[in-house]
Amino acid sequence: MLSPRYLVSFDARKAIHRFTDVLVIGGGIAGLRAALEVPPHLDVLVTTKDKITESNSTYAQGGIASVLGKDDKFENHVDDTLVAGDGLCHPDVVELVVREAPDEIEKLVDWGTQFDLENGTLALTREGGHSHRRIVHALGDGTGHEVMRAIIAKAKAAENITLWDETFTLDLLTHEGACVGAVCWRPGIAKELIWAKQVVLASGGCGMVYRETTNPPVATGDGMAAAYRAGAELRDMEFMQFHPTVLYVAGSARFLISEAARGEGAYLRDVNGERFMLTDDPRHELAPRDVVARAIFRTMERTQHPNVYLDLSHLPRETVLTRFPGINKVCRGFGLDITTDRIPVRPGAHYTIGGVTTDADGRTTLPNLWAAGEVTSSGLHGANRLASNSLIEGLVFGAKCGRGAGAAAEGMKTTLAALPLRHAVDDLIAEPLDVADVTNSLRALMVRKLGIVRDRSRMDEATRDVDFWCRYVLAREFRDRAGWELQNLLTVARLMLDGAIERDESRGTHFRSDYPEKNERKWGKLRHTTAKR
Ligand code: SIN
Repeated sequence: MLSPRYLVSFDARKAIHRFTDVLVIGGGIAGLRAALEVPPHLDVLVTTKDKITESNSTYAQGGIASVLGKDDKFENHVDDTLVAGDGLCHPDVVELVVREAPDEIEKLVDWGTQFDLENGTLALTREGGHSHRRIVHALGDGTGHEVMRAIIAKAKAAENITLWDETFTLDLLTHEGACVGAVCWRPGIAKELIWAKQVVLASGGCGMVYRETTNPPVATGDGMAAAYRAGAELRDMEFMQFHPTVLYVAGSARFLISEAARGEGAYLRDVNGERFMLTDDPRHELAPRDVVARAIFRTMERTQHPNVYLDLSHLPRETVLTRFPGINKVCRGFGLDITTDRIPVRPGAHYTIGGVTTDADGRTTLPNLWAAGEVTSSGLHGANRLASNSLIEGLVFGAKCGRGAGAAAEGMKTTLAALPLRHAVDDLIAEPLDVADVTNSLRALMVRKLGIVRDRSRMDEATRDVDFWCRYVLAREFRDRAGWELQNLLTVARLMLDGAIERDESRGTHFRSDYPEKNERKWGKLRHTTAKR
């Protein structure tokens, strides 16, 4: 793939410079957890490209998985994660996240998070793939809002943490093979060079590469693309998790209908009213997400209907309204009463499982660069993430990155000297470009050619289209966010296609109709696809 090292030209002699001990890119749960773990005598700068509340973390509905119930055990949560991950989870990483989860929940409570309670203790629900009730939640279906409210307040109160919103991280700065900071764009200032002793990447996933997605518009894979350009390794980019139940009503945003609805007993029905999961999987509606998403896909094909239905009408009205106030409000806006009406749903891109490779401490392959949360491939999720294991991953790995980056920054000098001072983007194309048109075309192409069911010929066609767009989009220098986002979306799309073509088997969320089985001989023993510039 034609991929320039930097998205923009810059001249260090003319740019504004800023220095910090630790730079954290991203203000979701992983980024803020990292910032809060850096020792208070070190400066931390957290940048987010939008408002600090605009992250996938804020929109999380279902909750956070952790072994807290009397009848549950760490071994159960480990097993459920491994089963959902379909042979690609790193068992040591699963073990450490599961064991550290309860302490992280306790910390959130100490920081003021008001989780929902039942008889004075944390209320626990279930979701697909979980053998026990172990998911804590808040505001019914507003877990992300409540957790982020508490953690943002905690970060704002910390004297060593500075939060910059509306700051677009264009690229990571590197010198002699190590990360030394980032070049950012800030309104009113334009390009600014931030020099950091250590950098933590926590910029989230790339759900926006698909037209049908539960993700907010910020999820354009900027951190993944920047890490790739800087020379870090990315892994398993073919694994995109499709959430089975996304509201499908003309005119609505693709709003998530939480898996907790099925955890509380909701049924999936086809257009004829049949509960198709009864025959599809012994776990019925609570099978892991990849299984349910594929069953819905097949059902839509069989019935020639563009969606299936989620039915909560048999559940007690009060339970439904108390547990799902957010879903109720949105559905009401489209004339649907969730206590009586069937909700039209279909799968949509939800969570980027692949990402920047990290070790069990959150170190990437690029020295001085750490990473946590959805931007990473940590080894926790394998080929299919277990529901509600994402916020807990962000917390556990965020803390590890903050600790590791803080320790590494102690006594270190900022690298500034001897950097090439000027960087130009070559071969600039100056013709006008309709950025929105290319972006929409890419997002539609990914749904058609790299969706729930894939095959070689459609992926080859998609690669040809993406390469064609890359030729004239990556060779430009844009001056606004939409252009940089398109460049990053194209970069991650190409990496996803490469991984999906290389993985000639079906595993977890990656289902190939031309290779419908798992190939343990070739892809067993935790073999990953990798990408490095
Ligand atoms: C949901 O509420 O269904 C989303 C939870 C998750 O993605 O883990």
